[in-house]
Amino acid sequence: MKKIISIVGARPNFMKVAPIDKALQKYDSIIEHKIVHTGQHYDKMMSDSFFDDLDMPQPAHFLGVGSGSHAEQTARVIIEFEKVCLLEKPDLVLVVGDVNSTVAASLTSVKLGIPTAHIEAGLRSFDRSMPEEINRIATDSICDYCFVTEQSGLRHLAWEGFNSKNIFFVGNTMIDSQFYAMDKAKDSDVLKEFNLKKEKYILVTLHRPSNVDESQQIEEFLDIFSQFSSERKIVFPIHPRTRKNLELFGLSEKANQIKNLILCDPQPYIRFLSLMMNADFVVTDSGGIQEETTALSIPCLTLRTTTERPVTCEIGTNRLIIPEKDRIIAAFNDYLAYKRPSGTVPPLWDGKAAERIVDIILNKILKIR
Ligand code: UD1
Repeated sequence: MKKIISIVGARPNFMKVAPIDKALQKYDSIIEHKIVHTGQHYDKMMSDSFFDDLDMPQPAHFLGVGSGSHAEQTARVIIEFEKVCLLEKPDLVLVVGDVNSTVAASLTSVKLGIPTAHIEAGLRSFDRSMPEEINRIATDSICDYCFVTEQSGLRHLAWEGFNSKNIFFVGNTMIDSQFYAMDKAKDSDVLKEFNLKKEKYILVTLHRPSNVDESQQIEEFLDIFSQFSSERKIVFPIHPRTRKNLELFGLSEKANQIKNLILCDPQPYIRFLSLMMNADFVVTDSGGIQEETTALSIPCLTLRTTTERPVTCEIGTNRLIIPEKDRIIAAFNDYLAYKRPSGTVPPLWDGKAAERIVDIILNKILKIR
């Protein structure tokens, strides 16, 4: 019997690990799979609801690291995950994405000599002011195996000299979860609850420090929403960081007064999927939502200067907008005036990435088939 541990920590990790757990369950006579939750995200709406919606088993270990500076969060994961590794002695550790839990867990397992694989490897924004970019570079450089979601990842890992035998282009497990939840999302009542009509609302998520940590920037976003709220309802599920800052800057009242702006808690996975599928367009600064909208062929405006997921702009429905007032207003006007742009779904984003990963784990990494 071999043992695999997968690490989850923050919201965008859960949907990447759920399909891998399901694909591994088929081999439960030869592989034991355990999920370790670092506790980087701990609110019910940022964490527990995803386990329910994605039918994920409860984590075998919960590290309870919580919030803190990058150093504190990373250090706590390292200290706590080392204890788990020493106790469980896994044959392979899987880390996903680019959050602090990803880099911390990979540092821990690699230094203990445990083979470690990074899922969603090779993505680069080339913007080193993003903490996620540092996490991506550091994680890829120390992991033994890299699973890649899009072709740019293959190029970056080749440039960086990663052993080509251990790089596998497998597609996107986040999109596997989308396939899994699609039917349930179609049955969701969320549109009815918020009194929304298909393609008659804009869905917004903003949480990156570069967009929400300064009061003037958030206030400008509110002014833009106010300007467009006569044309479309705007649904804005608020990340805890953004909500705290709205309160800190004394802008909650201003936000609440905007007619047709629906401010709500972060949404569980299936309800959020339903909101994406039916939106006129989506406005975001998230990494994953750029991919999810491309897979759904829903137009997406990403309020950032760079993306680590270029395929979503090259062939998908994503467009980068520098987060300045005039540019955002021009883009909103374009999207309201013209026919929806269409896109192509990237290669291997077909709902079967986790099956390909598990095949490679069995045949090439653990060599038990
Ligand atoms: C993290 C990831 C980011 C990802 C995002 C998705 C890193 C470096 N960043 O950013 O890549 O896009 O998750 O959500 O790992 N908080 C709560 N409840 C929670 C979680 C957080 O109230 O369940 C608050 C805390 O005050 C915390 C702040 O939100 O300080 C930010 O959380 P943190 O985990 O530090 O980073 P995110 O901004 O969520």
